[in-house]
Amino acid sequence: MSMLHDFAVWLAHSPLNAAVTARGWIVPEVQIVHVVAIAAVVIAAALINLRALGVMDTGRTRQAVLAAWYPVMLGAVAVLALTGFLLIASEPGRALFRTVFWVKLGLILVALVVTGAQARAADGGPSRLLAVVSLLLWITVIWAGRWIAYAEGWPGAFS
Ligand code: HEM
Repeated sequence: MSMLHDFAVWLAHSPLNAAVTARGWIVPEVQIVHVVAIAAVVIAAALINLRALGVMDTGRTRQAVLAAWYPVMLGAVAVLALTGFLLIASEPGRALFRTVFWVKLGLILVALVVTGAQARAADGGPSRLLAVVSLLLWITVIWAGRWIAYAEGWPGAFS
């Protein structure tokens, strides 16, 4: 906690914090990019997983759909990591001290692994199970992202 606290204090006094808070429109614009990248993840997750469930795009193999959309998902998550870091830099005492933020980061890693694992999963039951788990994980990540704003901060959190 103390290292995290020190990092938050350092970030609050960093040139990055000064840059993102210099104009009132910067943080809302970063939030817009974050939300647009979420839409890209949702589209990629839907196309990959609904194909695995046999609901759509059945004219192409599961592997072909995954090869087309998994890189889009990875690119969007990279944009989310960058914009997310800028949002943290704008208000270092907020997300870093809320459990739901760390749950969200952990779930993102698990969701990426589960979605990517479909490349090696056998057709039928195994790939369908991975698809359902992947969809549930991405929905939970979005829920956790929105919940950061309402969760209680840890006691003694930096503000
Ligand atoms: C990869 C690293 C990521 C970081 C560091 C990050 C960080 C953040 C931060 C700091 C916020 C603002 C929370 C607040 O103060 O209220 C936020 C909001 C949010 N994030 Fe992320 N995020 C990341 C990835 C993702 C991903 C992959 C998703 C979903 C696919 C996501 C979904 C959301 C949602 C739904 C919100 C609320 C947006 C709003 O209502 O304005 N984030 N994120």
